[in-house]
Formats: sequence, structure tokens, C-alpha cells
Amino acid sequence: MFFALFAAVSISAGAFGAAVAPRATCSDGTVVSNAVCCNFIPVRDAFISDVFEGTCGENAHSTVRIAFHDAIGFSKAGGKGNGADGSIIQFEDTELAFEANAGIDEIADELRPFAQQQGISFGDAIHFGSSVALSLCPGAPVVQTFVGRGNATIPAPDGTVPDPFDPVTSILNRMADAGFNSDEVIALLASHSIAAQDEIEPAIQRSPFDSTPAQFDNQVFLEVQLRGVLFPGNGSHQGEVQSPLPGEFRLQSDGAFARDSRTACTWQSFALNQALMAQKFAAAMGKLSLTGQNTANLVDCTEIIPKAAPAPRSQAFFPAGKTHNDIEQACATQAFPSTLSTQAGATTSVARVPEQ
Ligand code: HEM
Repeated sequence: MFFALFAAVSISAGAFGAAVAPRATCSDGTVVSNAVCCNFIPVRDAFISDVFEGTCGENAHSTVRIAFHDAIGFSKAGGKGNGADGSIIQFEDTELAFEANAGIDEIADELRPFAQQQGISFGDAIHFGSSVALSLCPGAPVVQTFVGRGNATIPAPDGTVPDPFDPVTSILNRMADAGFNSDEVIALLASHSIAAQDEIEPAIQRSPFDSTPAQFDNQVFLEVQLRGVLFPGNGSHQGEVQSPLPGEFRLQSDGAFARDSRTACTWQSFALNQALMAQKFAAAMGKLSLTGQNTANLVDCTEIIPKAAPAPRSQAFFPAGKTHNDIEQACATQAFPSTLSTQAGATTSVARVPEQ
């Protein structure tokens, strides 16, 4: 790393002589608990202005996605990569050729020169960047964020990233192999609140997974519970059940998780409680970013991650034209309550996420 160190570190002692954590004052006046975090303040600011252009748009979304695809290259049994280590950029010739990583090349092409310019590892660019990206999305929680990852030493092999056409059992088994239980998988899928697809159906690129893709809210959980419609036309997706909302794309795996007896109640609990969703996502996402890493070698710089604005609404609503009657009930132990309101106005098409 070729940082200039701007920090003046002062160590103080408590009233009775007990040592307290060292604090450092960065050149911009921010006080942090470890001087290393001072170095990441300009990195954070450059992320926001240069990579994300100040919005919860395509590049912010894709950075959260690459964080998953990088980290999930890991197995508790070994032999499937070293997790959240930046290998997806370091060994891009290998990993970006995997079908499940289709489309990741675009954000990798942004993050590679950015990391080199900033003098940080690819792993830190991806996982610190993902936390900064989330801070631009209203409603997102602050995710505990560590820095100091070294360079990746091996690529992950093919087959570690779940495919949206895989059965629920295979995805849950793959995620369990990487250390995540079914509740954590559903919590991580809150990320599909700020998401769109390009590769599954290229004819409708940038079609989002919920009606509010610039907000980290729980709309995705409610909207995926809506009774679907058959995919129109004669293409390769004929026969698939799709979102009933015009312009919105439903991943087959999301639809299946919302209806599978192992995951439907957790799914519904997030549709009904945005605060719970955000809290469980933060815990699972923090864990994801440490997959295969040892925190003893890292520094916690969570304190320099900005807090996102609150989401415009604190609870999911039915999009215009939809009501409680459109919910496909799948959780066997709790009925979906009839208390949520419907957005006023006529049904409109969900807008695509603009390209950046
Ligand atoms: C567990 C099973 C998962 C499957 C099968 C899955 C599948 C997909 C697919 C197919 C896309 C669309 C890609 C494209 O066509 O461009 C996508 C987008 C996305 N995924 Fe997932 N995903 C999963 C889990 C996750 C997790 C755990 C995260 C993060 C924690 C995540 C974050 C995202 C984001 C943010 C996008 C939107 C990217 C963008 O709009 O540029 N996904 N996912």
C-alpha cells in the first residue's frame, strides 16, 4: 500500500490508569479508533463521487453483487477458494469466465483500476466498496466493515456461485457449505431490493427485481410473494412464473424461496418488517465480507461508513392495483395480515435501472 499517513495518534489513559483504545485524528478532523481508517476516508469519498456518482444506481448495486460472488468462493471443507479475498478480480481470467459470473466484468473493470489508483487490495475495494455502496441506498443498514485484506493467492473454482435456476435445496446446500444457514440466505437476499438483471433475459436489460430499486426497502419480499403470471412470448423463459408487475423481473430462485416450506416464513417476516430485514441483512452481510478471513489480521473501519438516509417508507406497500388478495400465502404458521396499504393511482410499468 502506498498511502501517505495523515494521522496523529494519541494514546490516553482513563481516570484510574486503565488503558483506553488508541484514537487517531485524521487530516480532515475525523477521529477514528485506528489510524489505518484515516487512509480509507479519501478512498470512501472517491468511491462515492467517482464510482457510484453519488447514487444507489447500477454501480452501487453491482458492487454489492460482486461482493457476494467473490466471498462465496469458499467451502468449510476447503478446496473452493479463500472467500472474501478479491480473487474474482485478481484471477478474473479464470473466475469471470464462469457462467454464474456473467455481467460481473463491467464492475470488475471499474474496481480494478480504482483499487490500483487508491493503493488498496482488490478484496478491500470489493468489500469496503460494498459497504460504501449500501450507504447510498436509503434504508440500508451500516454493515460492519473491515479493511486490510491481502492479495488473493488462488482463484475460486467454478460452481461456487448459485444459479437462479438451481433448486432451493442445491442453493441452500451450497450456502451451508460456505457457512450460511437458510435464515441468513434469505437475509442476504434483501440485496435483491437494489437489483436488476441483464443476463437472464437480455431483451429487457436493467429490469429490476422490485418496484423501488434505488431504495433498500422490503418491497422485494412483498412483491415476490404476489401471485405471478406466465412469462409472455415464446422465448427460452416460456412457462416460467414471472412478476405480475409490468417491467419487473422475478428470479426463479427468489420465487422459489418465497414459497418453500424451509424459507417461506422468514421470507414473509421480512415482507412484514423492514427494520428486522435490515438488521438481519447487516449481520449476514458483515459475515459474508469476512468469509475465509481472520479478523485478527484486519482493522474495523465501520466508523467511517456513512449512515444511509432512511427509506421513504418504513413498511412495504402493495403496488397500485394489487391488494392482500394477490398474496400467494406460503408460510404455514402465520397468515399474511390484511393491514398493508395499496399505493394510490393506476398501475404503471416499473422503470428500468439506468445504465451508468
Ligand atoms: C443465493 C442465491 C442468489 C442467486 C441465485 C442470485 C442471482 C442473481 C442474478 C441472476 C442476478 C442478475 C444478474 C444479471 O443478470 O445481471 C442477480 C443480481 C443481483 N444480486 Fe443476486 N443472487 C443470489 C444471492 C445474492 C446475494 C447473497 C447478494 C448479495 C448479498 C446478491 C446481490 C445481487 C445484486 C445487488 C444484484 C443486482 C446487480 C445489478 O443490478 O447490477 N445476490 N442475482
